[in-house]
Amino acid sequence: MKVDMDKLVSLCKRRGFIFQSSEIYGGLSACWDYGPLGVELKRNIKEMWWRDMVRERDDMVGLDSSVLMHRAVWSASGHEEGFVDPLMECKACNQRWRADDTKDGRCPDCGGELTEPRMFNLMFKTFFGPVEEEAAAIYLRPETAQGIFVNFANVMDTARKKLPFGIAQIGKAFRNEITTGNFIFRCREFEMMEIEFFVKPDTAGEWFSYWLEERQNWYIKLGINKENLRLHQHGEDELAHYARVCYDIDYLFPMGWSELEGIADRGDFDLAQHAKHSGKDLSYFDPDSGERFMPYVIEPSVGVDRAALAFLVDAYDEEPDKDDIRVLLRLHPDLAPVKVAVLPLSRNETLVPMAKDVYAAVRKCFTAQYDDAQSIGRRYRRQDEIGTPLAVTIDFQSLEDHQVTIRERDSMKQIRVPVAELTGTLELKLSGEPLEVLPPGGKYWLGFEE
Ligand code: GAP
Repeated sequence: MKVDMDKLVSLCKRRGFIFQSSEIYGGLSACWDYGPLGVELKRNIKEMWWRDMVRERDDMVGLDSSVLMHRAVWSASGHEEGFVDPLMECKACNQRWRADDTKDGRCPDCGGELTEPRMFNLMFKTFFGPVEEEAAAIYLRPETAQGIFVNFANVMDTARKKLPFGIAQIGKAFRNEITTGNFIFRCREFEMMEIEFFVKPDTAGEWFSYWLEERQNWYIKLGINKENLRLHQHGEDELAHYARVCYDIDYLFPMGWSELEGIADRGDFDLAQHAKHSGKDLSYFDPDSGERFMPYVIEPSVGVDRAALAFLVDAYDEEPDKDDIRVLLRLHPDLAPVKVAVLPLSRNETLVPMAKDVYAAVRKCFTAQYDDAQSIGRRYRRQDEIGTPLAVTIDFQSLEDHQVTIRERDSMKQIRVPVAELTGTLELKLSGEPLEVLPPGGKYWLGFEE
């Protein structure tokens, strides 16, 4: 089901996923704060990316470079000159627009006449040290990639990797975007997950195709419906100043198909530029062929916030529920902010000690939430709405037979399992095991009326 953006924004605020930055002062546009659930979702996305792109691969190493870098980096990389958008201003209402968001030289808001476009650099400037003068001006990085390129020789010398290999980094980036909006789709402060994958120049095409495939599969593996993904090849007029070829992995967001991730063939542009400007040799010596050359780079790059939006949109669902509607986030268990909810049937004091013991055991293994407020049906709905895949319920029978109920978010099926087998069963279920193949001892049970 495709969710309307307003509904999603409201759910995210109401349930503590995402808040407007500096909200009590009227808000700061295109900057967002992640609440208790949002921060877990975001951490899970980054953790899964790091697990799949770095830890489980033999040809990738990680890096964490600083946000502030020497100004010369941005001169060499071409960002000082080329990281610009054409900006037009409305002569009537003074609103500013990216030229490609306007038509016929008229303001999209009030129809007023627009100024001629002028180039606007998207990098945020600040001052390094106590003196506020141009000589001390530096930039907040608009991409994490340059931190990787300027460390290429350091990593080569220390990680003992042979081509092909990649360097991956997750970190904040800043862009003074002219037009923002669409919630966390385009922010002025955001996080990126970037890979610079260094290859022999004559293998760049093969590796480009490999990463196109690999990255689409990553989203599908984590629950994105593949019908909502498509590839878009950049035309000459869309290519960034450093790219030879670029494809976007587009996602069908509520406002239409838009870029989720970019995969670019940057050739040897960056290493060659940094070698030229720094005077350092950044070439690679191939021990097999005895040749020295500048590696080419394939770059899969995605914003964590934009990925979070795609996962939330894709997971959002509504279904009829008696006279009401059940809202749920069908998030993949690896991404769900809370994995297991522990719910005593009521606040009856005889249930609480056992429920607390179960909670203590469960939270040692999984991110868990304890909830004893309101009816069990309402509590299930609350957990559905934040995407919790499993709920464990403790009832009066549990006190006697030491069994508890596990209820599944998507199917609403319930089963009864011995407490001694609980964490093992939850583990199996969270890794995708269907309810039908429970370990010995588990048996079907009628469950609670929802
Ligand atoms: N190093 C390559 C690079 O920066 P990009 O296409 O400008 O390429 C890569 O950005 C990805 O970063 C985009 O596909 C998107 O996911 C994310 N991104 C870019 N600008 C963003 C913004 N203002 N807010 C949120 N995410 C953004």
